[in-house]
Amino acid sequence: MKMKVQVIFYSMYGHTYRMAEAIAEGARSVEGVEVELYQVEELVPDDVLESSGAKKERAAFAHVPLASVDRLKEADAIVFGSPTRFGMICAQMRNFLDQTGGIWSRGELVGKVGSVFTSTGTQHGGQETTLIGFIVTLLHHGMIIVGVPYTDTHQLYVGGVSGGSPYGSSTISGPDRSLQPNDNELEIARFQGRRVAEIALMLLKGKA
Ligand SMILES: Cc1cc2nc3c(=O)[nH]c(=O)nc-3n(C[C@H](O)[C@H](O)[C@H](O)COP(=O)(O)O)c2cc1C
Repeated sequence: MKMKVQVIFYSMYGHTYRMAEAIAEGARSVEGVEVELYQVEELVPDDVLESSGAKKERAAFAHVPLASVDRLKEADAIVFGSPTRFGMICAQMRNFLDQTGGIWSRGELVGKVGSVFTSTGTQHGGQETTLIGFIVTLLHHGMIIVGVPYTDTHQLYVGGVSGGSPYGSSTISGPDRSLQPNDNELEIARFQGRRVAEIALMLLKGKA
């Protein structure tokens, strides 16, 4: 039985994209799991992307296809990732989620596994508020939320700057974006991807 995980992200400078790749890698490591990686549509005008340096950074993941609201129903599990904007998810991800009214009314995501991850500029700039707020939409869709338990001991690391929380994996890009997702953060992301896939597989087998 093949089980499908979709990893759907927005990223302006590549940090959330790198976390998405690690989550996809973790999910792919589970036998019988097919993983699809998607990004949501950009809304920021081209000149703003150019002046903020994002245009150059976005070239690294320009090959990732756009997510489709209509194809969400094909997934058994969906992991959503968004950078923090003022302590919340970004407008691009909100815009995508706000197009899911139709599938919400038909209950098409009810019973699917849902999980979230994020990236912030600073250590206390809203990782947890972003993740918790993100989960609320998934709960409205009736998704079964999977987080990251502390059995993944990378979350206990306090020897340096690191993201990672029970609500979802995360990374800290630095206010000047000079940091990249570190090994600890990437391990937590892989753990989350694996766990999402394993739980979705268990649910699917239970239904068969
Ligand atoms: C408009 C705007 C608002 C932001 N708000 C926050 C914030 O509230 N807290 C924070 O730590 N970082 C904030 N940031 C920094 C982003 O979260 C950071 O650039 C992002 O996590 C990098 O991820 P990316 O490379 O995937 O785009 C903000 C950035 C922008 C452009």
